[in-house]
This record gives sequence, structure tokens and C-alpha cells, in this order.
Amino acid sequence: MKDTCILGIETSCDETAAAVVRAGEQQLSSVVSSQIATHRPYGGVVPELASREHLRAIVPVVRQALAEAGHSYRSIDAVAVTQGPGLAGALLVGISFAKALAYALDKPLITVNHLEGHIHAVLLDEKQKGPFALSFPVLALVVSGGHTHLFLAEEREHGWKYQNIGRTRDDAAGEAYDKVAKLLGLGYPGGPVIDTLAKSGNPRAVKFGLTQIKHPNRGTPRQEQTAYDFSFSGIKTAVLRYVELEGMRESVTARQEALKGMPRLTVENILPLCDKKTLDLVASFQRAVVEDLVSKTLEAAREREARTLFVTGGVAANSELRETFVGEAANEGLPVYFPSRKLSTDNAAMIAAAAYPKWLARDFAEAEFSAEASLVLR
Ligand code: KG4
Ligand code: ZN
Repeated sequence: MKDTCILGIETSCDETAAAVVRAGEQQLSSVVSSQIATHRPYGGVVPELASREHLRAIVPVVRQALAEAGHSYRSIDAVAVTQGPGLAGALLVGISFAKALAYALDKPLITVNHLEGHIHAVLLDEKQKGPFALSFPVLALVVSGGHTHLFLAEEREHGWKYQNIGRTRDDAAGEAYDKVAKLLGLGYPGGPVIDTLAKSGNPRAVKFGLTQIKHPNRGTPRQEQTAYDFSFSGIKTAVLRYVELEGMRESVTARQEALKGMPRLTVENILPLCDKKTLDLVASFQRAVVEDLVSKTLEAAREREARTLFVTGGVAANSELRETFVGEAANEGLPVYFPSRKLSTDNAAMIAAAAYPKWLARDFAEAEFSAEASLVLR
């Protein structure tokens, strides 16, 4: 069993990824083909383009993942694929490929929830460092471009079971990063560039009121409300209003024009194009988002008596979020774990790792399953 090697395939959004992981704890390869360049002109992911790019990339990406792991199609033990949540057309590319592969090779096929994949990215990283003992319940904040979820996890015989105790009512945190970057003319994706630019601004310069972060429950049906809900569309609108009121529109347009002519978007390119006002706004936006994520997560951890904290997903790569969580969780005596930055954003190693407990439980997919854009994690 310890030698079981699973090929993972991930195509839920804008990364085509494949990886081979041994026994859920040793990454033998992890290949990620990013579509950022395709979506950049639109300032966000265009679903039709994502499906087309996955179709182009899936075969070479899988071949490369097998080759780097020293495996062939025949020598792997099972194929695992993301079933959802995600973009339906994008998921279908990975699922159709995985089904065909498993059928042709006569190997088991395992479906994985993308959000459980993000949680397993933390486990995979920790297990690679050495033996890893955990105290339950684990509270996991999954925070990415498509998701802001709080899951309370308990162990069961094979794997974990989850209770969703918090989620965003509108935009995901990463989506807010991307939209704010777009409206400030900072390119796509917004997270990494805002993360770096924020270090040069004053996070207390612009005050965002609580009402811009906390929305009343208006509009969310009672049965869909959870105890620890997030909301990030208000702060995006507040940034937009600030840009208008402070007369920053012209400098945004000038920056957009200047960046159009640049072959590569790097912070070195962007920083000289940002005045103090922009840097202060970016730093204040980030501070408000980080404080909201950290305070609500720690409140949930206290009230639900969590023994361990996981923070994962693309936004978990954020340096201020990491530092703040480390500091504040330590004050509460709560151990907090993040994946390495590489495993924070979408990848297939997390999918292959999350499939291993299902392999042990012989929990294999039926031939008829399809993509589930809103798949729930339980
Ligand atoms: O997990 P991921 O690769 O894809 C989804 O499942 O959505 O997350 C991508 C998101 C994007 O919104 C991106 O802007 C954000 O993660 N992101 C970051 C950072 N790196 C990526 N947000 C804040 N700080 C970062 N360093
Ligand atoms: Zn993701």
C-alpha cells in the first residue's frame, strides 16, 4: 500500500495540472501549466478560453508528470481527477481524459473535491517534512480565487469528514484581489502584485468601515447562511469609490497604457508606475481583507474549539496573511499550518494526495459521474 502511486489531474479553473504522488505523502512530480497569459487581457478567467487551453495542454502535461516521476501510464496504480467545484467546461476536459485513461488502462478512477484537495496540500507538505500528528477538530480556511470557506474537519476511518461553518456571500477573497487590481490597472492576477506592492504602502492610510467588509444577511436565504460568513464585494466597491473621489482615474489609465507595452508584468515594472496614494490604497485594502479573514477564522476556532488551524488556497500564499495568522494563532496557543507557496495555488499533487484515503477505502468512481460545478464538501 505504501508504494501506491496515484496520477492526479486538475482542470477546475485556469491551470492544467498533473502530478504523481506516492501513498498520499511523497510528491514524485507536479506539473502546472498556467493560462494566465491567455486570460490577462480580460482581467479574469474566460471560461470558454479555459476549456480550450485545457484541451491543448492536458496530454503534454500528463506525459511530463509521468516522465518526471519515472512512471509510465501502465505503472501507476490509479487515476484521480477533480470533479468540482469549478468551471463545468474546464472540469469536463480533465474528467473525460481521466475516464478514458482509467478505462484504457483498466485502473481505478477516484474523484476528488477541489476544496478537499486544497486541504490535503497542507497534509502533503507536512508529511513530506516527517511524521505528522494532528489534533482534531481541524479548522480549515480555504481561501482562493473562487472560494472563501471555513470547514470544521473531524477524522473518520479513511479520511476526514467536513462541516462547512462559514463561506463568502458574494466575492471570494482572491476574486476581490483580482478585481481591485483590475480597477487600479495593476494587471492579472491581482494577488501576487498587491501582496508585494502593499509592502511599500501605509496600511492605515485609508479607513474601510466595518460596513464595507461586513454585509447584513440581506439577500442570502436563511437556509444558506452559515455562522461565519464573509463578504468582499463591499470593499471592492469602496476602493472604486475612493479612486473616483480622489481623482485617481487618470493615473490608472496611464498605468494600464504603460503596462500594455511591457512584455512581462513584474513588480519591478509596476512599482515605478504607482504613486504613494495608490500604494497606500493597496496596503489598506490588503490590511482590511487580512484582518477580516484572520479575526473571523479565530473567532470560529475559539467558539468551535478547534485544536489545529489550516490556511490554504491561492490567497494563503499572501505574506501578510501568513504573518498575521502565525502571530495571532500563537497568542491563542493554536498550531497553524499553510502549504508551501507552490502548493497553495491550484495544482494536481493535492488532488493525488487527497485521493489516497479513498484508495485505501476502495472508494472508486462509477463510470457515469460527471462534472459538478457546485460540488459540496462533506
Ligand atoms: O487556488 P487558486 O490557484 O485558484 C482557485 O481555486 O481559485 O487561487 C488563485 C487566486 C487568485 O485570485 C490570486 O489573485 C490569488 O489566488 N493569489 C493571491 C496570492 N497569490 C495568488 N492572493 C493574495 N496574495 C497572494 N500572494
Ligand atoms: Zn483552487
